[in-house]
Formats: sequence, structure tokens, C-alpha cells
Amino acid sequence: KPIKIAVIPGDGIGKEVMAEALKVLSQLQQRDSSLQIVTTVFPWSSDYYMQHGCMMPQDALATLKGYDAILFGAIGDVRVPDDVTVWELIMPIRKQFQQYVNFRPIKALPGIASPLANGKDIDFVIFRENAEGEYSNSGGRIYHNQPQEMTIQNTIMTRIGIEKIVQAACDYAHKYGKSKITSATKSNAIIHSMKFWDEHTQNILAQTSPALTLESIYIDALVAYFVERPQDFEVVVASNLFGDILSDLGSAIVGGLGLSPSANLNPEKEYPSMFEPVHGSAPDIAGKGIANPIAQIWSLALLLGHIGRPDAEDLIVTAIETVLTEGVVKTADIGGQASTVQMGDAICQEIANM
Ligand code: NAI
Ligand code: MG
Repeated sequence: KPIKIAVIPGDGIGKEVMAEALKVLSQLQQRDSSLQIVTTVFPWSSDYYMQHGCMMPQDALATLKGYDAILFGAIGDVRVPDDVTVWELIMPIRKQFQQYVNFRPIKALPGIASPLANGKDIDFVIFRENAEGEYSNSGGRIYHNQPQEMTIQNTIMTRIGIEKIVQAACDYAHKYGKSKITSATKSNAIIHSMKFWDEHTQNILAQTSPALTLESIYIDALVAYFVERPQDFEVVVASNLFGDILSDLGSAIVGGLGLSPSANLNPEKEYPSMFEPVHGSAPDIAGKGIANPIAQIWSLALLLGHIGRPDAEDLIVTAIETVLTEGVVKTADIGGQASTVQMGDAICQEIANM
């Protein structure tokens, strides 16, 4: 039975880089007939919103549920407020499909001028809690426009939520032979929620993964260590807010947004997971054909790994690394002049050669 992938290119450069990822997928399929995958493209985007008054149809989630995975580009357009694009498209998918893990690999790539790599072997992953925590929609404000005006924004952390994200990080560590988990905390100052985070993180490691070393590091120190000694990390686990910040920093220390993939995972595979570049629709370069498609192509690689084809994942990552090592074809963001299409072609060519 073929694997079904729902493809949502979205807006701006999302469409441009998605075309390259789909090209890479068909190149893989030409090479390996056992890779039975069918794709369906859904036009849900800001254009769709301008026509229909909503980012996606009423039955969109029911439709997506029938797929094995979702490959997403990016959304964002001047004609639609950013909170509408995000809360009507990305958030419902993440929440409905219980994608409580946001996974980001942080890997120094050959031929990329990282501000920090200097030959150091930066290669770690971040597990960001993706469903609760600091980004819970709980709170409000009172005494509008009066001197005593005030606001409360609540952090909601559940024991089960912490256990699930930490367990996912431990499972990854076991699978890939890692020995250390780094937990981002701030329990010296945020004494309710972060102490709770620390306690349940320690408990779950002690119960299920006693062989793994756990280090808890205060978030303010941790961001400095990301810059000073990024080669020391293996698996980093963090709450929603801390993980968000660490992920963007992680992407910056290995060469930027054009190279950074991510996965929104439902580890139980009860629902489809969603794979997307970290970057947005980049209106400043959209339509020029110069966006770097690597983040999108690498997101496809993560998808293939998730659906049980780690061989195809490795093949794509190796092809990306080979093209970067050769250094002939580079887009502008990484110091070259190649177009989006030329970059996609170079990766396809490399796959054809392997
Ligand atoms: P952005 O990621 O779109 O762009 C930030 C900067 O990075 C820009 O200078 C852009 O040209 C550059 N850049 C991004 N991706 C690139 C690539 N593949 N190749 C070369 N350069 C690249 O973030 P920004 O400007 O803050 O947001 C633009 C729009 O995207 C907004 O509407 C925002 O809401 C949306 N957005 C959507 C996301 C999503 O769909 N998941 C994530 C982040 C932002
Ligand atoms: Mg972010």
C-alpha cells in the first residue's frame, strides 16, 4: 500500500521551495521503485483565504487525517494578519493531531560559514514541547486604561505533557546511541512550573532511562553555552518557550534559516506528523527564485525517516552534504549566486549519481 503524503506549499517562497522538494522526491522514486508514495497538493494559503475567507476548508483536518504525513512549506502574506494565518492553519493541525514534539536537528554542514563551527562538530537535536507550557491560551487583563491596569499570562504544564516530551527525547537518545540529555530550566526563579518540570524530568529519566545522563542547565546559561561550546550537546529537551528560543539560536549557529528543517511529531503515530522548514514565507525574496530549498528538502528527508524509510532520509542528507562540500552551487543566503531551481537540480543530480 503506497504511503500518502499531504503537501501544503502555502505562501511566498513556500511554493518555490516545495517544488524543489517534490522534484527530489520523484528523483528518489525513479531510483528506487520500492519507495511507493503518492502526494496530494492542497492549495491552502493566503490566496485561498482571499478567495474563501478562511485558510482551509471546514473538513480540512478530517481530510488530512487520512494521510500518513504532511509536508508543509510556509505561510504568511501582507494581505492576511499573521495571527490569522498561524492560528487558522498551523495551530489547528498541530493541536488536532497531537504533535506535541517539535523536533529540530542542529548540525554543522560542510562548506557553510557558521559563525561558530570553526571545524567543531556541532551535531545535536532539540526536543521542544509543542502543545502546552508558556504558550497556553490562558490569562487576560483588567483595569483597561487605568493606572492599576494589569495582565496575567499563565503557563500550564501537566505531568503527562512533561513525561511525554522527555520520554520522546529519551527514546531518540536510545535509538541513536546518545548518552546525555540536557534539560533547559529556570527553576531558581520560576519556582512553580519550572520546579515541576525539573522534578518530572528527573523522575521519567530515573524510571525509564537510568543509563542516560541528565544535565539541567538554567536557560540564561544554556544560551551562552550554545554559543561557546555547541559541540557539547547531544539531545536538548525544553519547554515550549525555551525550546522556541533555543531552536532559532541553534539554527543561527549552524548557518541560518535556509538550512533548518523541523518536524512536528505525534510519536505514537496515531495521527499524521507535519514536516516543515523553520523559516517563513520570506516576502522580501519571494518571487525572485533565489530562496534556499535545502530546509524544505531536509524536512522531506525527516518525513521519510519518520514513515519508516531512514535509508531515503540518509540519501537526501548525504546528497545535500555532497553538494555543499563541492561548494559550486550555493544560494545567496549561504554566499553563492545559484537559484532555487539550480540548487534543487544539483541535489537531484547528486541523488542520481549515488
Ligand atoms: P522568514 O523566515 O520568512 O524570513 C526571515 C529572513 O530570512 C528573511 O530575510 C528571508 O529572506 C530569509 N530567509 C528565510 N528563508 C529563507 C530561505 N529558504 N532562503 C533564503 N533566505 C531565507 O521570517 P519573517 O520575515 O519573520 O516572516 C515572514 C512571514 O512568514 C510572516 O508573515 C510570518 O508570520 C511568516 N512565518 C511563517 C512561518 C511558518 O509558516 N511556519 C514561520 C515563520 C514566519
Ligand atoms: Mg520560532
